[in-house]
Amino acid sequence: MKSVTAYANTNIAFIKYWGKLQGEKNLARNLPAVGSLSMTLDDIGTTTTVEENDRDAFMLNGETLSGEPADKVFRFIDRVCSEVSAKRAPVRVISTNSVPTAAGLASSASAFCALALAATRAFGAELSPAALSGLARQGSASAARSVFGGFAELPASVGGEEVLAAQVLDENGWDVRLVVAKTTTKEKAVHSRQGMQHTAATSTYYPAWIADWRRDFDTGRKALLARDLTTLGEAMEHSTLAMHATTLAARPPFAYWNGATIDCMHAVWALRQSGTQAYFTADAGPHVKVLCAPADVEKVRAALTAVPGVLATLTHKPGTGARLL
Ligand code: PMV
Repeated sequence: MKSVTAYANTNIAFIKYWGKLQGEKNLARNLPAVGSLSMTLDDIGTTTTVEENDRDAFMLNGETLSGEPADKVFRFIDRVCSEVSAKRAPVRVISTNSVPTAAGLASSASAFCALALAATRAFGAELSPAALSGLARQGSASAARSVFGGFAELPASVGGEEVLAAQVLDENGWDVRLVVAKTTTKEKAVHSRQGMQHTAATSTYYPAWIADWRRDFDTGRKALLARDLTTLGEAMEHSTLAMHATTLAARPPFAYWNGATIDCMHAVWALRQSGTQAYFTADAGPHVKVLCAPADVEKVRAALTAVPGVLATLTHKPGTGARLL
């Protein structure tokens, strides 16, 4: 078995994946109930090495992990081996994240994408980018999109059909920026998998979300191809707020936001009122990500930095797809 190292950038969804096809078989394959559209970010992601070892071991950011986080990785290795028909051998997986782990900055997207690429190659298989996305999806659906640079889509699965991610525009296809406002250093309390299953099972608004997501997806996809920031931004904010509304109407309810998250949203709306095209999104955590033109980055950063509770801002361009190192 070869020692293989791979790198994947994380990605942030403009149009949100939130909800899985139910049923034991579908859940085992982690099939999305809605379509999503994302931007892969530059210079923020996961580097992962997979190599032979005398027993399974998982190291993240220099620490050996055990329990569920490690078991999730080992189960994914089982899956890789069964998918590429390789004999399962014990492995050491060494990952370094430049994304804060599990804080709603999509660390699982880059993590499972880098792991899928490193593990398939370590076990001697070479998958097409589309097939690799299908495998990465089984670890974390957002990971399917990180295979591709630039902007990617992951369709909804209808009736349990297999779905693969695809590139919509490459990293040179549209020069925009995503400004990330960090509002916490803590890990999230409700992981996305848990959050989406709980809302699917209990939220008054989940059926409405499932009935309505395609409008934002179709509008957003068209706007992305037309490089239309206003239309994409409006669809993105709607998709974001509708997704988060499902959590507020769950029983018991929960919210990924903190006070600074909401203040950032108001700051973005105020920017728009004063003529700056800026649009927000937020994921399974309290950070806010703001899409804007390169020329408006400084204005957006200043507005977000002025919000009490914003710890830092980072600016990202569209990044490249997953690669071997
Ligand atoms: O891929 P997961 O299971 O980490 O879910 C990601 C869910 C969101 O980040 C909230 C939305 C998305 O499309 O990335």
